[in-house]
Amino acid sequence: MVIAVGNTLRIGLESIVDDSYDIVFGENLFPQIAEDLAKVRLGSKYAIITDSNVNRLYGAALKSALESAGLQADIFPFEAGEQSKNAVVFLGLMKSMRELDYGRDSAIIALGGGVVGDMAGLIAAIYLRGIPYIQVPTTTLAQADSSIGGKTAVDTEDAKNSIGAFKQPARVYIDVATLVSLKELDNRGYVSGFAEAVKHGIIRDPVFFAYLQKNAKLVLECDPETMLYVAKQNCRIKGTVVEQDPKEKGLRQILNYGHTIGHAVETLSGYRRLHGDCVSMGMMVSGNISAKLEGLSEQELEQQKELLQLLGLPIWIPPEISNESIIQVTLKDKKARGGAARYALLKHLGEMHDFAGKYTTPVDNAIVIAALNATRMQH
Ligand code: GLY
Repeated sequence: MVIAVGNTLRIGLESIVDDSYDIVFGENLFPQIAEDLAKVRLGSKYAIITDSNVNRLYGAALKSALESAGLQADIFPFEAGEQSKNAVVFLGLMKSMRELDYGRDSAIIALGGGVVGDMAGLIAAIYLRGIPYIQVPTTTLAQADSSIGGKTAVDTEDAKNSIGAFKQPARVYIDVATLVSLKELDNRGYVSGFAEAVKHGIIRDPVFFAYLQKNAKLVLECDPETMLYVAKQNCRIKGTVVEQDPKEKGLRQILNYGHTIGHAVETLSGYRRLHGDCVSMGMMVSGNISAKLEGLSEQELEQQKELLQLLGLPIWIPPEISNESIIQVTLKDKKARGGAARYALLKHLGEMHDFAGKYTTPVDNAIVIAALNATRMQH
């Protein structure tokens, strides 16, 4: 109800939003996706947004599964790689959707890894002021992290994910069978995504951390049962955080453990280094800072390092990236406040510091530099 008080009109827009959605786990899920969409009729037609690599593998199969269920779909591919996650590619995709008359009654299917999911999600958030989308993540990273929780974005040259929105997907389908081809074609990319799984264990769940320690070999071999278990644990851990703080006002910031430095390294590499690899290095730096400031024990820091190494993740900051440049880029990080970068830090393995409800803290440059130096390979 519009209320008038003096020379002010108040537009009353209080609302309770239900953004709940299901995450479906399994193998070879395309027929189920088509069947479900035929039932729920999320859109009158479906824009499958995907990258060139995933399109070669799965684009036609998903389109034909949808068509067999009587649904109309088109594929909107773009060049694979984080370098494509920018405003130019993003606008180009929307222009192509306009050309094929995708209207407000259409929906998007994000088929691919983190770049696809983030960019397709952002299109869903703003295309014709918003249309629904589902996530079909095909990489370890997207299945562990980016397809869950509704963060969508594109990068700018100076900072990762600097333009974005929160837009929860209508549903997520985690098909672990897609990981087999990823492992075969791009083992580095396959391994890199496990950084987010290690992060979930470290920040929230020592039992899952121990599971990863014990089952690292099966994880690296892409054993289907193990991958299903890992995917479910990732989504459970992340889901419990996102449920409490969907817009990252507080608690959700613990999911950024390792990301302040990780994003800086990724940005400074011109987005050539993989996100998971950079998060792995960033967790080593944040672990060192946590040991210095928050009492994380040397033994716990060593456990983190050993698990990252066991899973084949990098633990050293690349020599060509200087401490000074990293510090500079962290100032542009989304978490920075009042010109100071902020860090999510560990108290113990499985428990993050809450910093009186702020969940991140600024850290003196001297301490960050000491932690960066401790994360450089000694010759
Ligand atoms: N990747 C961290 C988050 O979704 O909050």
